[in-house]
Amino acid sequence: MIERLVGRRPAPAQRPTRWWLDTLRRRRERMYEEKLDLSTPIVWESEAEQRAAIAFFNAAFRAEESGLKQAHELAGVVERWDPELAECLRLYGDEEGWHRELLTEFLAYLGGQVKPMGKVTGTFYRLYGRAERMDTIVLTNLMFETIGSTTYRLALRRARHPAVRSMLTILTRDESFHVPLNVHFLRELLAHERAQHGLAATLLAKGRLQGLYHLLFVSLLGSAWASRRRALEFDKIPFPVLSKAYAEQLARLFLHEHDLGLRPPSVLLAAMGFERKQLRTGDSAVSVEAAEAAADRTQVQVTAL
Ligand SMILES: [Fe+2]
Ligand SMILES: [Fe+2]
Repeated sequence: MIERLVGRRPAPAQRPTRWWLDTLRRRRERMYEEKLDLSTPIVWESEAEQRAAIAFFNAAFRAEESGLKQAHELAGVVERWDPELAECLRLYGDEEGWHRELLTEFLAYLGGQVKPMGKVTGTFYRLYGRAERMDTIVLTNLMFETIGSTTYRLALRRARHPAVRSMLTILTRDESFHVPLNVHFLRELLAHERAQHGLAATLLAKGRLQGLYHLLFVSLLGSAWASRRRALEFDKIPFPVLSKAYAEQLARLFLHEHDLGLRPPSVLLAAMGFERKQLRTGDSAVSVEAAEAAADRTQVQVTAL
């Protein structure tokens, strides 16, 4: 089984809250200077391609909006016991707010606008918006960030138009930083819970999170299917490629960050053709090393994404 080997591995690289805070503060200094180059209009291959592009970036907009809201709400709670972690959450939320502004501008450039959410997406975000437990919110957000950065990376590899590439480069680069940042948030929240409520409550919370992890894992693979109907004409990522990439990154993340104690669904992964060696080795796009590579906005090369 995949998880049987987990205990033997050394702890993944970690950084203290102070490091994340200093890095986020440095990132904020230059953030608003960065602009999209929207000088060349897009010549669409078809109306369907344009519609799909608008749907793709509308989905991105909703993810940013949700990330911003949850991060700022959590900051208000965390403030009571860890002001530095709360500031990290606030600065992280601000980055998502900046993405939301860029996407609003970009959608207008595409000839579209922010549209009301569909039934399924709306229900999903409403349920997520009602979540109260901090670990539930952060785990859900972490998994959203993981599939977000995976989708952007795959779309960037296929994108040709300079403006689309510049939008996707910003999103890919920043979400690569946000995934390990959210791992840090989750680790800190679990440590806080352990200190507050003791081992028994922590084990119960872990069991609940394990169930949520598997539920979201399957739901997000389902979302890859649903998004193909709306966005395939634009992003050109076939379902088998997208779903395998989601499964790989969602599994690799928690195999790598094994101290969080969340085990990927090994039967599903085996059915999808993954071998444990393949998931445990190779570059993880979601590690602290990846965050360090993406931390300095000015140094990130498109080819490195
Ligand atoms: Fe974002
Ligand atoms: Fe993000």
